[in-house]
Amino acid sequence: MNNVRTVKGGGNLQGKIKVPGDKSISHRALIIGSIAEGETLIEGFLHSEDPLSTADCLRKLGVNIPKIIKNEPFTISGLGVDGFREPKEILNCGNSGTTMRLLMGLLAAQKDKNFILTGDHSLNERPMGRVSKPLSLMGGRFFGRENGNKAPISIGGNKLQGCLIGTPVASAQVKSAILLAGLNAAGTTSVIEPASSRDHTERMLKAFGADISIRGELGRNIAIKSGKNLIAQKVLIPGDISSAAFWMIAASIVPNSEVLVQNIGLNPTRIGILKIMDVMGCDYEIVEQSIIAGEPIGSIKIKTAKSLKPFIIEGDILPKLIDEIPILTVAACFCNGVSEIKDAKELRVKETDRLKVMARQLRKFGAKIEEKEDGLIVSGESKFNSAEVDSETDHRVSMSLAVASLLAKGSSKIIRANASDVSYPNFWDDLAKLTN
Ligand code: S3P
Repeated sequence: MNNVRTVKGGGNLQGKIKVPGDKSISHRALIIGSIAEGETLIEGFLHSEDPLSTADCLRKLGVNIPKIIKNEPFTISGLGVDGFREPKEILNCGNSGTTMRLLMGLLAAQKDKNFILTGDHSLNERPMGRVSKPLSLMGGRFFGRENGNKAPISIGGNKLQGCLIGTPVASAQVKSAILLAGLNAAGTTSVIEPASSRDHTERMLKAFGADISIRGELGRNIAIKSGKNLIAQKVLIPGDISSAAFWMIAASIVPNSEVLVQNIGLNPTRIGILKIMDVMGCDYEIVEQSIIAGEPIGSIKIKTAKSLKPFIIEGDILPKLIDEIPILTVAACFCNGVSEIKDAKELRVKETDRLKVMARQLRKFGAKIEEKEDGLIVSGESKFNSAEVDSETDHRVSMSLAVASLLAKGSSKIIRANASDVSYPNFWDDLAKLTN
């Protein structure tokens, strides 16, 4: 495996590309399929480290998941909402926050069974109290460093009681953990979030027959009633807009580019980046739109923009582009004015502190970035020189730095480049294909 990548600046991007399956939907297909009754067929699964960590944990919990082969559909047999076995092994979630947080919800409600969850160095430093605290209100029992805030975390499965929970952070991981716990808790469990986050869990639970209602302004109030069995389904997973984002931004900025990214999920809770591309004045068109398995999809044709206007990101749009902030920071360096990212404290508790890491790495190319407590101020019209940069083990940083390198004069080196395997294993092949 090549851990240092060299990327040449200049050139252009041309061609068609299909990005790998959506990471969030891949995790949920496995998890919800595991607790349904019958055989769930999964197609378009993201064969990368994070979803494979979820598969590995579920196997240890007794779920019959075959060896997953890239680009091949597979079926899993569900065990029902409380059919997991108490595993002999520690469940290793690797680098994946989604695996750990969603499993915390699911396992807290497995009465009289005990579980231990751990992760890699990065994951074991990320906050889990945002999940263990609300679940404790339902009767969940968690033990770990900082009072159940940091993994390794042990869970004493219990009979949970549904209740009404207002979450202080707009996080789909927190919301999903509570809803999954609610499936197996007495009565009704309701979650209200401060802004609407991605709603893949709600859509999939509904498709599997859960008794779920989505109300309130922008669907921020979700209630789930236990007692209804989930029925296995066919899940077709679209391409991940968060992976497509690298090509959408690269093609918008690199001169003389034209790229068609096919079969991307366009769920309204995920398309914040398109709104910002509109503000920037990007030249793109959505073609071939359809709805597959309850999720809107389409292809996006992007051409180099004539000029790029600066932008401000703040408020309720944050959860809708939370994973795109690193690549949008690169974009901001090439807009004609000063851009600002505000209300983005959440970025500090991702796989790395993405505000700090993106500012630190992009400055090596010559970017002018000021770091604020909750965001960044980025000066536009940068002239990037080649640099030796480091992903600092973060997949989205690695890929954002690859795009930044395309915009630099000369050849740049990216250290720990294979962090990209967490969400986009073919990234470097696709980069070579588009830049040839
Ligand atoms: C995810 C939700 C987001 C996102 C992460 C995947 C999910 O995290 O950053 O990459 O699949 O639910 P938060 O919900 O913590 O913001």
